[in-house]
Amino acid sequence: MTENSNSTDNLPQCYEPWYELNTMYNGRVACCCYYNGPASRLDLDRWPDLFSYWNGDFLRKVRAEVVGRIPDDSGCKGCVMYKYRSHEEMRQHFLVARTQVLSPAQRENRERAMANFTAGKLVVDHVPLRFYFNFGVSCNINCIMCCQTPERPSHQTLNAERLLAWKPHMVKTETISVIGGEPLILPEAIKFIRAIVSDDDFAQVRLDLFTNGLNLDKFLDELSAKSNLNVCVSLDGIGATYEHIRAGSSWSRVERNILSFKEMAASRNLDWTIGTANIVMKSSLSTIDELARWHVEHDIPPNFVDFMNFSGIEETYFKENVFAFPDLLAEVPDWRQRLDAAIRVLNEKEWFSSADILIKMKLDLITRLFAPFPEAPPTMQCNVNKGE
Ligand SMILES: C[S@@+](CC[C@H](N)C(=O)[O-])C[C@H]1O[C@@H](n2cnc3c(N)ncnc32)[C@H](O)[C@@H]1O
Ligand code: SF4
Ligand code: SF4
Repeated sequence: MTENSNSTDNLPQCYEPWYELNTMYNGRVACCCYYNGPASRLDLDRWPDLFSYWNGDFLRKVRAEVVGRIPDDSGCKGCVMYKYRSHEEMRQHFLVARTQVLSPAQRENRERAMANFTAGKLVVDHVPLRFYFNFGVSCNINCIMCCQTPERPSHQTLNAERLLAWKPHMVKTETISVIGGEPLILPEAIKFIRAIVSDDDFAQVRLDLFTNGLNLDKFLDELSAKSNLNVCVSLDGIGATYEHIRAGSSWSRVERNILSFKEMAASRNLDWTIGTANIVMKSSLSTIDELARWHVEHDIPPNFVDFMNFSGIEETYFKENVFAFPDLLAEVPDWRQRLDAAIRVLNEKEWFSSADILIKMKLDLITRLFAPFPEAPPTMQCNVNKGE
């Protein structure tokens, strides 16, 4: 982050290094998905003590960076997490407990986390409030913009059994996030999900699953053993737009799976939530109003992000990244009307934070379109391999 930090208090500029332990299939261990620099490395053949990472050199360094003035060579510089979201809004993820009922151990852990964060402690005595595990990059579809394209093929994976050795810590956390690649085709991810779902010790821990949704139907019954579940399905569009971007997937099947998820939650009285992730790029902009209406019709809140550039997806980058190449907007002549319509329906539904992201993106696009000297396109980046 955070040249434009709007922090008006003495709190650290970002909560993430007190909130999340982010572990990637290839052993990168960081504070979040966004840190753009070397992080720490897991020994994939052993599974050492959690605190050797959580209070290790890397996490202590990032905590120090966000407590003070962020140095120019920090991986936090230019953090995209804050590009279209305010610090205050993001901080709520950390400061405000989820709606779930916390166990005494979770409550105590949260209190310690808050105290460590507000004091800017570099060495902490709480466990992460979120464990984030990426189990690998294999996938059952071939999205045109997939940031993991350069990593494929790779069969590196996290090992479910070793992760579960952290159970005494993980039962105190609030959220365990599982992602890939496509987690619902990755054997170790599936093994891990099954272990969490079937273990009552995790009953009060929320399982947070990021998926393309294509295989969701095959897991709904098993997942229903866990009441405390959030699923985020990536869409980017509906119908033909969806199938163009998410090549190899099927809109009718994914839509059916999302609606079945909602029906099962209602019929079995489960505390399940579902949302979607959507990348704003040329193709998605061309029908973004329809995408917004679909979400309102089914009462499923959307999130929006912009296109991140990675080596390996150059062709899509040049064809689709309207933020880097605003001239591409000429190929979607009604983009402003469509974006305005999407903003309007989201506001009418009172999904103000989703609408706000689109408003900020619109202003960003207009600024870039009319800038006398266009900004240089952002450099290609890939954090996945920046480990030590
Ligand atoms: C890599 S996917 C893994 C999980 C699952 N396969 C899915 O698509 O939801 C995680 C998220 O990254 C997003 N993503 C992929 N490539 C991206 C890019 N170039 N820029 C921004 N987000 C991207 C996807 O749309 C998805 O929401
Ligand atoms: S990279 Fe961004 S989200 Fe991660 S710790 Fe730094 S400022 Fe926070
Ligand atoms: S479904 Fe997810 S992991 Fe698979 S190609 Fe698409 S964005 Fe990448």
